[in-house]
Amino acid sequence: MTKKNYSPVMSAKAARRCGLFGISLLAVVMMSACNSKSDESQSDNQQITTKMDFLELTRQRYSERFFDSTKMVEQEKIDRILEAARLSPTAANKQPQRLYVLKSKEALQKAQSASFSSLYGAPVVILLCYDLDSVWHNQHETLLPDYNSGEQDCGIVATQMMYAAEEQGVHTIWIRGFDAGALQRVFELPANMIPAMMLSIGYPSANSAPSPKHFERKALEEIVTEL
Ligand SMILES: Cc1cc2nc3c(=O)[nH]c(=O)nc-3n(C[C@H](O)[C@H](O)[C@H](O)COP(=O)(O)O)c2cc1C
Repeated sequence: MTKKNYSPVMSAKAARRCGLFGISLLAVVMMSACNSKSDESQSDNQQITTKMDFLELTRQRYSERFFDSTKMVEQEKIDRILEAARLSPTAANKQPQRLYVLKSKEALQKAQSASFSSLYGAPVVILLCYDLDSVWHNQHETLLPDYNSGEQDCGIVATQMMYAAEEQGVHTIWIRGFDAGALQRVFELPANMIPAMMLSIGYPSANSAPSPKHFERKALEEIVTEL
């Protein structure tokens, strides 16, 4: 692959040789490369300027149970969340994730009717499924017969969506309190489409607060073993 000539990576020797002129030229070339980018990448760059440390993001996040049902999430933000789902790694890159974006009152009611957990009045719910015909099968597994990667693939897809939302100031809650069979029926999904989880998405209402459970985390010594 040919290296792009506006690469910011430059050896110290080369930098010394080029001196101030070279560095200025490099800056101009980089700026013009940035300017020629599309509006979409420009808004990406704006997002990047607001990025925060990843651990800080994980500390800040909590499951939202008090959504503002009246405040719709902007389409650009939903698109960015969906893009995070698209870019997710999956086993053997099989990409079995299939996403249904539920926004209409009817769709949200159907999702709620198949759930024993509340969806907490979120204005948008993403139903994340995996296509059983596209999952990776582990042929070498001896402990778990017929193991396939669908649940794990959806686990990482959902996690990426969760943080893509959080990064944009949009709150989420992960929902598995549903009957997958009932979801298949209400949305008339084909038999190979397995509902893995739902992600309720929206802005927090004035009542928003983490649940007491949010603060209960085991100590590292309880969950980590060095072998
Ligand atoms: C796999 C999974 C399934 C979950 N299902 C539900 C659910 O159905 N209903 C619910 O209210 N919360 C659900 N949650 C949210 C958890 O209860 C929550 O993440 C946990 O209590 C820790 O709180 P926190 O997310 O605020 O840190 C689920 C979380 C995960 C990871």
